[in-house]
Amino acid sequence: MNKYPLSEATRNRLQQTFGHFIDGEIVPSINGETMDVLDPASGERIARASAGARADVDRAVRSARRSFDDRSWRSIDPLERERRIRTMSRLLLDQKSMITELDVLDSGLISWYVDFCVDFAANGIDYYAGWPSKIEGSIPPAPEGFSVRVEREPIGVIGLITPWNGPITVFGSVAAALATGNSVILKPAEQTPMTAVLMAEIAAEAGIPPGVFNVLQGRGQEVGAGLVEHPGVDAISFTGSVATGKAIQAAAAGQVKRVTLELGGKSPFIVFPDADLEAAAAAARMAVWGASGQVCTAGSRVLVHRSVQAEFTKLVIEGTEGMTLGDGFDAATQVGPLVSSEQLERVRKYIAIGRDEGATLAVGGASPDRSGYFIEPTVFTDVKNEMRIAQEEIFGPVMSILPFDTEAEAVRIANDSLYGLAAGVWTTDLDTAGRMTSALRTGTVWINSYQMVYPSIPYGGVKLSGHGRNLGAASIEELTQLKTVWTKVGE
Ligand code: NAI
Ligand code: MG
Repeated sequence: MNKYPLSEATRNRLQQTFGHFIDGEIVPSINGETMDVLDPASGERIARASAGARADVDRAVRSARRSFDDRSWRSIDPLERERRIRTMSRLLLDQKSMITELDVLDSGLISWYVDFCVDFAANGIDYYAGWPSKIEGSIPPAPEGFSVRVEREPIGVIGLITPWNGPITVFGSVAAALATGNSVILKPAEQTPMTAVLMAEIAAEAGIPPGVFNVLQGRGQEVGAGLVEHPGVDAISFTGSVATGKAIQAAAAGQVKRVTLELGGKSPFIVFPDADLEAAAAAARMAVWGASGQVCTAGSRVLVHRSVQAEFTKLVIEGTEGMTLGDGFDAATQVGPLVSSEQLERVRKYIAIGRDEGATLAVGGASPDRSGYFIEPTVFTDVKNEMRIAQEEIFGPVMSILPFDTEAEAVRIANDSLYGLAAGVWTTDLDTAGRMTSALRTGTVWINSYQMVYPSIPYGGVKLSGHGRNLGAASIEELTQLKTVWTKVGE
């Protein structure tokens, strides 16, 4: 770690345990347990974080519940709430260098990518900062003799359970939950606990009252499941794996608790012969090598029309061979490590499966001779859609290239997936783009572009990719409920 260009402030920060943040202050676990924070680029321990248990969940829920029930946040004038939320983005940007350094160390992501994540979070906060004065109810037509109004009110305590791939980006979701008047308990991934504490400090400094935004550190089985099962938590917003998403939905059923699930995908990236092949190949590389493939919208199934398959594959491989692997601080790095040794093992397992299934390993597939959780960007050709490498989310830098002959076949292959998060369509023909858009069963379609996100634009999946939407006005709906008020008028 000494080789990294870290600021004094970051080095000092790493000496302190990254604890829970409950009721306005950093606290250790009640039983004193901690967990190691590892640098994925070296495997070395760089810090410690608290590891919570059910007693810590109880404590965080008590704090969040009290702050909601005593209305300490939602009773504040809406425009003042807007000012305080907006202050969070200013404080975040003021601390951008430390936040970026911590998230690069924690997640292994490359620093320019983390910079983008910080800006995305700041934009999300600014977007939601505008909402408190604009969330409106309605007055529906009612029978004579009654006046009816429908209010839109906060849900209560929201449990936000998040993964490791872009830890700071969740700050925008926190802002959405605050803008709607809820109290929040954030449970960051155990692999990336560090910046969650800084978010909570920023919120406190911006004037969010104690207990309104808490952070609970620890493993999924203990604190994640603890939040889902706790009767004091009114809704769960989860991003992560399908297996965990299913477990959460099942556990939430016991209390008929609201859940929003964003569960990843196996997104088709579809290239028609009339597309700008250079641009499409560059975007396809970015769509799977970015964040070393640890992105839910990774365009990991590349469907290419047979007439341009050879040329397109050549462009992808030429741009992939010789990419520089390294740590996130090194300006020469093009591909960073995976987040953990478990994730590295998972990706290696899938590369072996791809070989066994008879796909052709065109480039990559190996780990460089160095410490850290690195794997080369890997391209398989001759992939068939029924192979596991085409069906299962790998969450690593592994691209499968599949040929198709007709538009109908492209649609059939694209939709022959348990997932339905996103799709990319590359064509210069508006009719093709239009037909594909209506035929694809995904939450997002990008045409001649890929992985665009913006705070005002909703985002989410269908099928096993989950349900509910994040971002935009959609989050305001997810995070509020309606209250109907009938008043008898006249005599
Ligand atoms: P995971 O889904 O187990 O973890 C995500 C979050 O859920 C973490 O905060 C974890 O602590 C929490 N969690 C785990 N078990 C829980 C439970 N029973 N109740 C409540 N919360 C729980 O994902 P994991 O194991 O870290 O990664 C495995 C695979 O999941 C990856 O290879 C990838 O395929 C997929 N994944 C997809 C993501 C996406 O963005 N859609 C993000 C992370 C993982
Ligand atoms: Mg897990």
